[in-house]
Amino acid sequence: MTGTERYTHGYHEVILEFYRRRTAEVCAAFLLPRLEPDAAVLDMGCGPGTITVGLARRARSVVGVDTSAEMVEAARRRAREEDVDNASFELGSAYDLPFEDDSYDVVYAHQLLQHLSDPVRALREARRVLRPGGLVAVRDSDYQTMVHAPVESALKHWLRLYHEVAGANGAEPDAGRFLPGWVRAAGFVDPVVTTSTTTYADAAGRELWGGMWAGRVTDSDFADHAVEGGFAMRGDLVAISAAFRRWADNPSGFWAWLNGEVVAVKPGLSAVVDH
Ligand SMILES: C[S@@+](CC[C@H](N)C(=O)[O-])C[C@H]1O[C@@H](n2cnc3c(N)ncnc32)[C@H](O)[C@@H]1O
Repeated sequence: MTGTERYTHGYHEVILEFYRRRTAEVCAAFLLPRLEPDAAVLDMGCGPGTITVGLARRARSVVGVDTSAEMVEAARRRAREEDVDNASFELGSAYDLPFEDDSYDVVYAHQLLQHLSDPVRALREARRVLRPGGLVAVRDSDYQTMVHAPVESALKHWLRLYHEVAGANGAEPDAGRFLPGWVRAAGFVDPVVTTSTTTYADAAGRELWGGMWAGRVTDSDFADHAVEGGFAMRGDLVAISAAFRRWADNPSGFWAWLNGEVVAVKPGLSAVVDH
């Protein structure tokens, strides 16, 4: 952690339930075609480990690292429940990885860099633990690209508030668009930049996103940070929560945003000389 950095999302059950729906097939789709079956993978900021376990099924081994002991425990449980024995989990920070130089083939980070006040420092640390020629693969949302219908002023208010709260925590909610620059600044080469969208429009998706925020906006670390920081009154949060509930219950409800994705290479692979 650097300076005033604070993790905006916290670990409320409604948030963890949201993360548990994530899969490697969706969240690492931009990496999977380049993931070799014998790769040693590091998943930085692994959270409850759902994606990590999916990566483990496609690689030789995966280590998940997270600053939260609760997440490390949850991820270990997940791997046991899914009978995945080539995934392990350790407490540690992306700023100071507890691993040797050149020890991984791939370092992956999903929706982590947006929470860091110094994402380039974390990416340099990723470069240190990668072998020359190894891949970094990062994906982050860009909150400013969020669109929704029906349009409600309370939901627009939420987006402004999210930027204020995350900004005060040293985070960058629009990280998706900055990934190419951060990866270059950390010394990676040959970036392949893609985007993918996240859409919630059917009943299950609206419940997942709108139901989560209806609970989270009044009852999570986000709510505390918003009120403590002077960005909102409890009454504002109650109004936003009700708007998310209406949106989730509306069969015409639509929500979407863009995720930035980059796969890039650690330079330094010495040329093979054919004698
Ligand atoms: C938004 S969650 C994403 C979890 C998982 N990658 C996923 O997509 O489901 C971000 C995770 O990063 C962790 N985290 C925050 N700061 C970190 C740091 N400096 N190093 C490692 N993990 C960190 C948090 O504890 C949290 O579990």
